[in-house]
Amino acid sequence: MRLMISWCSCLVIFCLLQASHKASGVAYNITPSEPLFPNQTLVSSGNIFELGFFTLNGSENQYVGIWYKNLRPSKIVWVANRERPLVYTDRSAKLTIGSDGNLKLMDGQESIVWSTNVSGRSNYTLAVLFDSGNFVLKDGNYGEIWRSFDDPTDTLLPTMKIGVNVRTGVKKSLISWRSDSDPFPGSFSTGVTSETPPQAFTWNGSTPYRRSGQWDKAKFMGLPTMDQSYGSGCTVEQDAQQGTTYFSINRYDVFVYMFISPGGSLTIMRWDDGAKAWLTEWAAANDTCAIYGTCGPFGVCNSLNSPICRCIDGFVPKSNEEWNSGNWTRGCVREMELNCKKNTSTSTSTNIKEDAFWQMSQMKLPDSGDYVSDVEDEEGCESWCRSNCSCLAYSYVSNIGCMVWNKDLIDLQEFPRAGEDLSVRVAHVKAGGLRHKAVIISLSTIAGIMFFAVYVFVLCKWRANKTGNAWQEQLKQDDSRELTLYSFDSILLATNKFSTTSKLGQGGFGSVYKGKLKDGKEVAVKRLSSTSAQGVEEFKNEIILISKLQHRNLVKLMGYCTEGEEKILVYEYLSNKSLDTFLFDSGKKAELDWGKRFQIIQGIARGLLYLHRDSCRRVIHRDLKVSNILLDEKMNPKISDFGLARMFEGTQVLVNTRKIVGTLGYMSPEYAMGGIFSERSDVYSFGVLLLEIVSGKKNTSLYDQGYMNLLSYAWQLWSDGKALDLMDVAMAVSSPLEITRCIHVGLLCVQDHATDRPNMSNVVLMLSGESDLPQPRQPMFTFQAERPNRSIPPQQESIRSVNTITNTLVEGR
Ligand SMILES: *[C@@H]1O[C@H](CO)[C@@H](O)[C@H](O)[C@H]1NC(C)=O
Ligand SMILES: *[C@@H]1O[C@H](CO)[C@@H](O)[C@H](O)[C@H]1NC(C)=O
Ligand SMILES: *[C@@H]1O[C@H](CO)[C@@H](O)[C@H](O)[C@H]1NC(C)=O
Ligand SMILES: *[C@@H]1O[C@H](CO)[C@@H](O)[C@H](O)[C@H]1NC(C)=O
Ligand SMILES: *[C@@H]1O[C@H](CO)[C@@H](O)[C@H](O)[C@H]1NC(C)=O
Ligand SMILES: *[C@@H]1O[C@H](CO)[C@@H](O)[C@H](O)[C@H]1NC(C)=O
Ligand SMILES: *[C@@H]1O[C@H](CO)[C@@H](O)[C@H](O)[C@H]1NC(C)=O
Ligand SMILES: *[C@@H]1O[C@H](CO)[C@@H](O)[C@H](O)[C@H]1NC(C)=O
Ligand SMILES: *[C@@H]1O[C@H](CO)[C@@H](O)[C@H](O)[C@H]1NC(C)=O
Repeated sequence: MRLMISWCSCLVIFCLLQASHKASGVAYNITPSEPLFPNQTLVSSGNIFELGFFTLNGSENQYVGIWYKNLRPSKIVWVANRERPLVYTDRSAKLTIGSDGNLKLMDGQESIVWSTNVSGRSNYTLAVLFDSGNFVLKDGNYGEIWRSFDDPTDTLLPTMKIGVNVRTGVKKSLISWRSDSDPFPGSFSTGVTSETPPQAFTWNGSTPYRRSGQWDKAKFMGLPTMDQSYGSGCTVEQDAQQGTTYFSINRYDVFVYMFISPGGSLTIMRWDDGAKAWLTEWAAANDTCAIYGTCGPFGVCNSLNSPICRCIDGFVPKSNEEWNSGNWTRGCVREMELNCKKNTSTSTSTNIKEDAFWQMSQMKLPDSGDYVSDVEDEEGCESWCRSNCSCLAYSYVSNIGCMVWNKDLIDLQEFPRAGEDLSVRVAHVKAGGLRHKAVIISLSTIAGIMFFAVYVFVLCKWRANKTGNAWQEQLKQDDSRELTLYSFDSILLATNKFSTTSKLGQGGFGSVYKGKLKDGKEVAVKRLSSTSAQGVEEFKNEIILISKLQHRNLVKLMGYCTEGEEKILVYEYLSNKSLDTFLFDSGKKAELDWGKRFQIIQGIARGLLYLHRDSCRRVIHRDLKVSNILLDEKMNPKISDFGLARMFEGTQVLVNTRKIVGTLGYMSPEYAMGGIFSERSDVYSFGVLLLEIVSGKKNTSLYDQGYMNLLSYAWQLWSDGKALDLMDVAMAVSSPLEITRCIHVGLLCVQDHATDRPNMSNVVLMLSGESDLPQPRQPMFTFQAERPNRSIPPQQESIRSVNTITNTLVEGR
């Protein structure tokens, strides 16, 4: 019998082998009385795998191994005596079960070449080859006492595990062959580490050669290609109690394997029945950046750059000469010493400036990170890191949590897509310098925001010191200062008894009317639908909080009214109606030239940033859309309806909402499908809004032109390099760079995965051109739950305001 296993076209190395002798017999198991001779093979019951003696072409050595039985080219998946070959002429060698119950490979002189070496058991053992490729020694009393799957060579089959057990110290990894014709253990091995989160490594000897990045419970974060092309077939299971970490590929298909070649490259191969060939399903990246630590400590590798290595901002090459000659292994050092390190005992004093954090995005996170438990969000992670001088960097990864680094940051890589945010500690002065430009650009805005933030913060603090039953008193004080408590009669009078002629619109939370107060002042009156189960006191408390949210890009709440079932909000009246009355009106859209549109986009971004970050309580809008953007007489945008979703929720829990409140077309996939919302769901809505403003088209308006929606149309143009074609034809051509940047930001905001989207502070910087823009991922437009293990089935009781039906909630005339 002759097996031909030849070089495969897809770069994976196969070995030429031939069974050393014509195997005339087929066996189904090995027993103490029935050994396996070179003239026989052992086959699995389904004829999938075969075990026997083989010789590699061009070699005089004979081995015992396992291969796929009927595939040509086949693949040797396991070798027993890789370290001690038999001579190929030895025809009286045999694989037998000894009197101690162990499998033994004996040469012609009856000396043991290889043995399973488990302590001997009963007088009855049996060796069987299974259809999984597992060769098992069974004992009559003790069951399976040895498995070839526990003794891997260079190939990982489905359901086989490699990894470590820190309790027993047992480490299982794939070890490459020395060469294509020599199964002797080579210098490369691959396996997973026991750290949390675990990582997979390929080592050259004991030196790390390639690193997968951390396992985020679904994928290795440093292997973006594996995420896309391979999906969830790979699994890492970590059991802290048992002290085990195991990697495996879980497939129903047995004709799949992972393999480390003698040259150290890792591939996953799959047999294609149609093509009758092994196809590469996944291959580890092969570029220089994929080699561990190419750019040295504090160096960042980006294979699209030339040179590929650069230092992290705030760092300089350790040796300029070496660095410039392309030897980056010594890496970079700090340009300016950390203040934290200088003198810890005075670090609390105010005249020592605190260190800052420099955020990098789309990164392969460095090696040797530590997981910090009990930190719930990015802010917590930052403050943890800030408060410990030995913490050099942190990253908050949604599927893992808070990670920190206190050793040199090594093996950093910047990806063109995917990757994580990493914040690196730098000396204050340097960070200030880096952010200088951005600061000047938006100084006035920030000053404004700061003023309100401080004001609101003080108020919040002050309020926090008060006890709960001081609410009434507070309410009065607040009333007298900003909020008016209107009587129901005065509202009836102002709106002409809620007459249909004074109705401005109908929204998800109730109807909006135009009103004229006794003093002649025009107001917008929102009569909330009585579905809210809130009590009067809760309602008042919420109103007061909403009224504290003050920003030039938010609609101002003037007062409220509550009588019996009635809950009414009174807002400032804005003369220019809502944005959709301009944007989607063929007669009026020309009034919005690019300058105005850009001002509107920036205004909305700042208003949203204020809601997310700068107010004393974080507020997620949850129903951002064109009709919720109102325009004042100078066409300044003002966001309306903020805080209402929260109020309707009547709960403090900001995730996993029970009711889905929002507008189709603006809802992020994770929100629409799973009811999971976060700031990043608002970012998604903002992205849709931005693209609508640039294009003058509704997100849902492109069905008949063969596109799913505006997003797919925008993506198509973008990927064809024709982004500017998205621009509303009603606008005169101007500032093409600014428009392109806006579209770019819009596409970043509408990416499917919430974690890929920028946050609003990034968006504000990106819009002002002060931040580099990563490449957006194609939105798939399928409503997929973001993370299966966290998604919540959509609830029945959704309140949805469908884009085509609803109008503005607060609208002027
Ligand atoms: C295989 O070889 C062994 C030992 O050389 C011999 O005893 C046995 O009869 C052979 N079996 C077959 C089927 O040729
Ligand atoms: C084995 O190698 C020799 C040269 O070393 C070559 O001529 C022969 O074709 C090879 N056999 C097979 C089966 O590939
Ligand atoms: C068998 O195991 C024993 C102890 O478990 C060890 O000392 C011995 O070297 C092993 N022999 C072989 C051939 O691996
Ligand atoms: C195994 O040994 C026990 C006694 O130690 C004996 O009773 C039994 O019959 C033996 N079984 C076989 C299959 O030889
Ligand atoms: C692996 O390590 C050996 C010895 O340290 C070295 O000679 C060889 O170049 C390394 N191989 C690669 C691919 O880095
Ligand atoms: C991997 O690297 C080798 C040598 O550097 C090259 O020949 C090969 O084409 C590369 N493979 C891929 C998939 O890039
Ligand atoms: C690069 O620099 C390191 C450290 O200085 C040195 O050991 C190594 O030999 C250099 N490599 C090359 C290719 O010059
Ligand atoms: C740190 O500051 C304290 C108090 O100012 C001073 O006594 C100490 O010498 C300083 N240490 C260093 C290393 O500068
Ligand atoms: C700071 O972090 C290091 C490393 O994790 C740890 O050993 C040390 O105890 C921490 N120091 C403080 C004050 O928490």
